[in-house]
Amino acid sequence: MSKILAITNQKGGVGKTTSTANIGAGLARTGKRVILVDLDPQTNLTKGLGIVAAEKNVYGALLGEYELEVYPLQKNLALVAGSPALSGFDKAKGDEVDREFLLKELLEPLRKQSDYILLDCPPGLGLVTLNAYACAQVLYIPLEAQMYGVDGLEKVLNLVKRMQRRLNPELTIGGLFFTRYNKHKILHRETTETLRGQYPDLVLEGVIRESVALGEAPHFGKDIFTYASHSAGATDYAALVTELLTR
Ligand SMILES: Nc1ncnc2c1ncn2[C@@H]1O[C@H](COP(=O)(O)OP(=O)(O)OP(=O)(O)O)[C@@H](O)[C@H]1O
Ligand SMILES: [Mg+2]
Repeated sequence: MSKILAITNQKGGVGKTTSTANIGAGLARTGKRVILVDLDPQTNLTKGLGIVAAEKNVYGALLGEYELEVYPLQKNLALVAGSPALSGFDKAKGDEVDREFLLKELLEPLRKQSDYILLDCPPGLGLVTLNAYACAQVLYIPLEAQMYGVDGLEKVLNLVKRMQRRLNPELTIGGLFFTRYNKHKILHRETTETLRGQYPDLVLEGVIRESVALGEAPHFGKDIFTYASHSAGATDYAALVTELLTR
């Protein structure tokens, strides 16, 4: 049975999608069978990995129209496509009794054919995010190493506690990690040190540096290892993956 990891932060633009793609690709390169799920109506994960015309997506499956369809990307790596229509999920399912558990049920058959399922959560805390928290075993929280980058962290941590009580007693936080890090910026160094002091058990060793190639790779529909295997981004995500596997 695979482990379900959710990459989440209610804050936008902190590196959730970049991390889902590249942690997923990194895990696949170690031989793990990985399925990525794009839960964001922006569909950046889907587009960024080169899937442009997926006939079946996670939204249609959540509405009960079909089973989840898995699109192969490369050896050991596959994707469940997202859809812009996901933005209507709260409205469509908001008053259904089991509304937080729809994704969990859909993922069940996929858990037998994979080692890891990675959920790319949208920013915000809507019903899609609750569905992710209701089925994940482990959450990873990317943070930008700057002034307002850690805003909202308390909210996420409080929500996790509530979710553990109400929806998913299995849920744990695997760790927080910094993205877009620049060691030459005093603010970045200070922010990471402060957070390490505040949450010594939660902050991961691995730090993802600001790297041009990480921004470019999705424009070519590629993960960082395929696009620029010797880049800082590839080195950093490979180290993060090793840490996730050994922690
Ligand atoms: N380490 C990095 N170095 C350079 N650019 C990065 C890095 N990480 C992410 N980016 C870029 O920053 C932008 C935001 O990243 P990303 O889309 O992964 O964030 P997100 O948290 O998924 O955003 P959203 O909340 O909108 O879904 C993207 O343009 C991405 O290419
Ligand atoms: Mg995203």
